[in-house]
Amino acid sequence: MKSILFLSMLTLTWASHTNVYITNSLEGREDLHIHCKSKDDDLGPHVLRINQTFKFGFGTNFFYGTLFFCSFQWGNGHLLHFDVYDQNRDYYKCYECKWSIKKDGPCRFELQRDRSYLRKCYEWNH
Ligand SMILES: *[C@@H]1O[C@H](CO)[C@@H](O)[C@H](O)[C@H]1NC(C)=O
Repeated sequence: MKSILFLSMLTLTWASHTNVYITNSLEGREDLHIHCKSKDDDLGPHVLRINQTFKFGFGTNFFYGTLFFCSFQWGNGHLLHFDVYDQNRDYYKCYECKWSIKKDGPCRFELQRDRSYLRKCYEWNH
């Protein structure tokens, strides 16, 4: 009984809410077609015009390995993929994870160990 209480308290302490924002920042102002999913959720297809943002949120918990992955496509281009939230990568880096989608890949500002923010760009998944 004590250990259950202890575990519940730990879970509460380490649970938090995270929001992911995906903004169309394509240099050529094309419409951006996105489709995001996790193991359990399908967020459906969306079309973002230039500077439009798609936002979604979820509860994160230290014990879950939350992963949301999306496909991205514009113009006549190929379907590209990126993990927009990977708990192993992101748990300490953002609670408000704001991606700017550029042609070379997604960029965002990330929380550093010294609590400052640094702009970082990623490559598309291979
Ligand atoms: C999109 O946002 C950028 C940065 O705020 C701005 O410079 C640009 O004019 C906007 N583009 C359009 C088409 O609204």
